Amino acid sequence: MKLKQLEGLLGNLQQFSNPKVELEQYPTGPHIASRVLYTAENSFGDVGDRVVADFGCGCGTLGIAAALLGAEHVVGVDVDSQSLEIASANAEELEVELNLVQCDLGNLDFRGQIVDTVVMNPPFGTRKKGVDMEFLRVALAVASQAVYSLHKTSTREHVKRAALRDFNASSAEVLCELRYDVPHLYKFHKKKEVDIAVDLWRFVPRGA
Ligand SMILES: C[S@@+](CC[C@H](N)C(=O)[O-])C[C@H]1O[C@@H](n2cnc3c(N)ncnc32)[C@H](O)[C@@H]1O
Repeated sequence: MKLKQLEGLLGNLQQFSNPKVELEQYPTGPHIASRVLYTAENSFGDVGDRVVADFGCGCGTLGIAAALLGAEHVVGVDVDSQSLEIASANAEELEVELNLVQCDLGNLDFRGQIVDTVVMNPPFGTRKKGVDMEFLRVALAVASQAVYSLHKTSTREHVKRAALRDFNASSAEVLCELRYDVPHLYKFHKKKEVDIAVDLWRFVPRGA
């Protein structure tokens, strides 16, 4: 599938109808989401015929992109049941299979490297300190091939240190720096849109 076609399909997905600020529910737009998955597949071969997990899947954008690019199985995990209902409807609309699990990532008792690739746009940790690092810890414990994740550029050194020193990564590479538009979803946002510098990371777990 071509990049533009993927972006077009993702652009039609429903997003959070009633976003929950405490869960940092803001969607990954189709431009960024399509490029993350397209790069994972076309530069590294981490999606096609792979088992892919989308952590904090929300309305399913990243997981659905993985399915459209030929993933063998896709599992989406999110703590919020309303988002998972939307993710399910989105998958049905595009006729792709998405296995959905409602769970707090911090409580997930996965044993071993049970998926090939994790893709995620975790909460940045602005509402619940440390939740971004908790997502990364779990992702690097369950992925055998690669983890793709978005983190604020301002946290770059911290993310790198934690991944390599504490979370089982053998490499941690920033693939590109992106401008991430957080739309005006919440009352406390004064501007129409907030533009944040975000890194797209690729981590390789030890033993891959
Ligand atoms: C920034 S949004 C990203 C949503 C979606 N992946 C996307 O790219 O559009 C973060 C997501 O993480 C979920 N989330 C927050 N805390 C969580 C937790 N402890 N366990 C599982 N999911 C969580 C939220 O419900 C939300 O859907």
